[in-house]
Amino acid sequence: MSADPAGEGAAAVHRVAVVSGGSRGLGRTLVERLLADGWRVATFSRRANEFTAATAEAHPEDFHWAPADLGEPESMRVFARNVGRRFGRVDLLVNNAGVLHQELLLTTPSKQIDSLITENLTSPIQLTQACARLMTRHGGGNIINISSINAIRGYRGVSVYAAAKAGLDGFSRSLARELGAFNIRVNSIVPGFFDSDMTADVTDRNREKIQHRTPLGRLGTVDEIADAILFLTSARAHFVTGQSLVIDGGITC
Ligand SMILES: NC(=O)c1ccc[n+]([C@@H]2O[C@H](COP(=O)([O-])OP(=O)(O)OC[C@H]3O[C@@H](n4cnc5c(N)ncnc54)[C@H](OP(=O)(O)O)[C@@H]3O)[C@@H](O)[C@H]2O)c1
Repeated sequence: MSADPAGEGAAAVHRVAVVSGGSRGLGRTLVERLLADGWRVATFSRRANEFTAATAEAHPEDFHWAPADLGEPESMRVFARNVGRRFGRVDLLVNNAGVLHQELLLTTPSKQIDSLITENLTSPIQLTQACARLMTRHGGGNIINISSINAIRGYRGVSVYAAAKAGLDGFSRSLARELGAFNIRVNSIVPGFFDSDMTADVTDRNREKIQHRTPLGRLGTVDEIADAILFLTSARAHFVTGQSLVIDGGITC
């Protein structure tokens, strides 16, 4: 099933996806799978790496990488503007990049609180506004915010990250009401624990606990989370908006 976010049979034009944080982890997998599916893909991260360099070389017409930092919301607008100039349109935005910092609230410095909210909530909102404006010019689009089960269940040490991710879910629902009239769908994907650099520091003991509490008995893979995201980009999800789709092996059930 080919992905057709605007639902306009856009076979003649190149569909354009913006994926934040596409150099590693889930973002990288999305970049690879969207390019393989015929999309043009624009992504940013703070640093280039072997993957972004090799992909730019392999897909000179269809891949755009530029540095941008979630800690600087203005860089989101600059990035979106440059994507608009280079590719002419945006059909899909995946707000994938996120920053996890674990610390009990009682000892978290105020600066750290500010930056976690900026990186995980303010910057995705700014990027969404800039991309949604581009989407309205071409008949519609699709916005997918990557949340976390921390938004729907309590875990020690992640209260600020959880607040930002829950904010992203609320943002998705209300924005779906605002943008439906423009044929723009807005949904959240709510992943449970999956293997990536973000979970590389989980101790063996905690990993066992997670597996024990997960009905499917394991962590997820980036491909399993990407499958759900690609479902939302497909024609099979054209009537889905304003929803949070939990992909967690059942740990929150
Ligand atoms: N892994 C999990 O178990 C899990 C569970 C639930 C939800 N999530 C969410 O899923 C999403 C993807 O997670 P992941 O595990 O794939 O992450 P990851 O492996 O840590 O990759 C993060 C990506 O975002 C970029 N990034 C990080 N900080 C950035 C910043 N300040 N500015 C710009 N780019 C930045 C990274 O590149 P640079 O470092 O070069 O900037 C990288 O490309 C995140 O939103 C995360 O919160 C993850």
